[in-house]
Amino acid sequence: MRKKVDRGAALAGELAQLLPGAAPETTAELLKDLHLLTREGDLNADARRKLKQIRHLLQLVGPALDDVLARHPDPVIVDCGAGKSYLGFLLYATRLVRESKGRMISIESRAELVAAASERAARFGCARMTAVAGAIAEAPLPERVHVVTALHACDTATDDALVRAVTAGADWIAVVPCCQAEVARQLGDGGPSEPALAALCAHPWHRRELGSHLTNVVRALALEAHGYAVTVTELTGWEHSLKNELILARRVKRFDRAAQERLDELVARFGITPAIVRALPTAVPT
Ligand SMILES: C[S@@+](CC[C@H](N)C(=O)[O-])C[C@H]1O[C@@H](n2cnc3c(N)ncnc32)[C@H](O)[C@@H]1O
Repeated sequence: MRKKVDRGAALAGELAQLLPGAAPETTAELLKDLHLLTREGDLNADARRKLKQIRHLLQLVGPALDDVLARHPDPVIVDCGAGKSYLGFLLYATRLVRESKGRMISIESRAELVAAASERAARFGCARMTAVAGAIAEAPLPERVHVVTALHACDTATDDALVRAVTAGADWIAVVPCCQAEVARQLGDGGPSEPALAALCAHPWHRRELGSHLTNVVRALALEAHGYAVTVTELTGWEHSLKNELILARRVKRFDRAAQERLDELVARFGITPAIVRALPTAVPT
């Protein structure tokens, strides 16, 4: 009996650390329902890894949430490629439950995950949370959104999220990109004509690494060109995930001509046309 009480207290302590701000009892039930806690109420290694990842992301987007909750009467937060909507539910549990405003919208293409998230939101009384079925590029959204997130949205789905965010004039954007294949393919099919740059792309392994790096550099420059101040940091230690780069952006002006010029030159020299460049018109008015 003593052991059980100790274990319960230890778990409550660990959850309070992993998800500060959330009400412990509801959170434990929600985590069980999301299969992040076992039926017996234990945390396994996978769940602990996922929760740490989400806690770091919630910490890093904390200032963005503080900002929009302070400045807007009913800020809209959109999570793209939401999967089981872990991020949406935990953001709701740690932040929106305490606020009497703010809406969470999760976009996910797999209808069964959307149905499960909608049912779960109703059951846990998350009245300001909506799960929308469809592609990120096309899902219906309010005209104005304030924060857009995408955690490991596959390949160009991250670009779709960035394009939706920029088009909707989001105040803040936070993406942790996933696998990236598109630019590596472009580097193999054409790539740079300058011999020194071409040497960077001679081997498939290097094209994959460089393609992934270039994709994120292009994303950051495109955001800067559209008036965002960008920071790029590590989300968690490498032991938690190999896809670990957080691109956090805050809208500070209408556009940045120098960033657009750097972007144009970079894609021209490497002979690439990444998804975000195809989808977003140039930021600078003609
Ligand atoms: C690797 S999972 C990540 C899920 C979640 N963000 C997380 O970190 O737990 C990527 C999810 O994005 C969804 N997805 C991929 N491309 C999408 C698109 N274009 N539109 C909507 N959802 C997409 C997939 O169905 C999948 O559920």
